[in-house]
Order: sequence, then C-alpha cells, then structure tokens
Amino acid sequence: MTLDLTPTSGLPLTFDLATSELRWAADVRMDRVVQRRLGEILPVLQQPDADEPDRLLYYMTYNLRFDSEEQALRSMNLRYDVTVLLPGRVGIEPIKTAGHYHPAEGSSGLAYPEIYTVLAGRAHYLLQRDGAAPGEIAEAVLIEAEAGNKLLIPPGYGHISINPGPGPLIMANLVASDFSPDYGPIRQLGGGCYLAEQPEGAGLPVYRPNPRYGAVPPLRWAHAASLPAQGLETVVPLYTAFARDPARFQYVARPGAEGGPAWTSLSFWS
Ligand SMILES: [Fe+2]
Repeated sequence: MTLDLTPTSGLPLTFDLATSELRWAADVRMDRVVQRRLGEILPVLQQPDADEPDRLLYYMTYNLRFDSEEQALRSMNLRYDVTVLLPGRVGIEPIKTAGHYHPAEGSSGLAYPEIYTVLAGRAHYLLQRDGAAPGEIAEAVLIEAEAGNKLLIPPGYGHISINPGPGPLIMANLVASDFSPDYGPIRQLGGGCYLAEQPEGAGLPVYRPNPRYGAVPPLRWAHAASLPAQGLETVVPLYTAFARDPARFQYVARPGAEGGPAWTSLSFWS
C-alpha cells in the first residue's frame, strides 16, 4: 500500500508502507539520503542493548525541491528535508531522533529557528530551553501534532522528534542550510530532559524526567499555534507556501532580519 504525501507536502511524494521507502516524482530533485541506525544513536537510548545495532530507526532525505524553487532555496540558504521515523520501539522507548540544538546565526546572535510539518502519522516533538546552569532546563514542552500540522521552533530550543505510532511518522522541515546542528548536549545527558516509555499496546507514551539533568520543570503538553504571518498556514502545505512567496521565509535563515518575527512576543504553542 502506498501513501500519497502530495496533499500534506506540496511535492509529489509517496511512501511505500510495505518497504518503508520514500519516493518522489521524476521532476523532484534531492541531494542525499542519510540513515540513522540504532548503533549510531546509542548514547541517547534508554535501552541501547534492546535490539540489533544495524536496525534502521529513521532516515532523512535532504533538499527535496522542484527546479522552480532551486534558485530561491539556494540564494536564501534554505532547504526542505523529509524525515521518516519508522514505527516501533527500542525496548520500552518509542523510536525517536537523536535530538539537537542549533547554533547562533552570525549577524543576529539568535539561534537558527526551524519549521516542522507532519506529512503522515503522528508526532510528539519534545522542545527544551536551557536554564542558567549546565543541565538545567527552563522550559520543557511536548507538542502533539498530526498530518498537516506545522510548528515553528523558535531560536534556542533543543528538539527531538518522537513517533508515538502506530504507523510511520513522516515529517518535513524547512531550515537554514549553512550550519551544523549541535548533538553534543543531548547526547551527553542520555537524551532529552524527558524520556518516553510506551509499553506494548499502550496508547500514548508516558514521559518521565531524565535523571541525568539538573532542575527540569513540569512537561507542558501543547499544540502548535497557527502563525499565518510566518507562513504557517493551516491548509497550505509548507513547500507550497514557500513556493508561492519565498521571501516570507527569509527569517528561517536570518532570524534577526528586519521584517522578521518579533520572537519575544509570538506564541508558538498553546
Ligand atoms: Fe533542527
């Protein structure tokens, strides 16, 4: 069986449920596919010995685009990637990404933001903002999202994608292409500030504070806010919104640019 991701992506993408392969039409280009196997993210797993190290957990397809957006994406230092998180668990833990923070953009000093959107399945996005002391967290949010939802991750939030199932989680992101994410802090502390457990057959995962962190506030469950002025429209796929008006998304690569969001006064979730 094949999932048609075109309505939620805006690009002609499909997903083969039998083989877990992402496919795209002949007029779509991409740069490369990067796979993440269990053995590559051992430090962030609660039960790293629960399965084979070469088990595929998720994979990213980088810089998917039509020729018509190639120039805008390149000149604005942006890319549109698709990540597939396979269904299932590693021991008690639902499959998740390694998690990372973004560095600060040079001219503004603000960390690069990112836009997420769910193309199929369900997502739990764990966002965490650091406190004053090392390992201390000032804010922890769990965003529940489903196909069509979009989330603007503001500057400064570490982020981890979790697949609560039951099917694959297929998601896209729009992000600056001129930085490398920082995986170090989350890896050193054995994952995010909250860790998920999902017993066999359970509905939603249960989240417990990660004991390797210092002070961690209560986990706030939330949904992403609709931010039409930032290009996050409810009914328009992210890629389509970019194609219609690329300039509107310049803030993703230049978060301090004039005309961009007033980061401190926006509400990103509720
Ligand atoms: Fe990111």
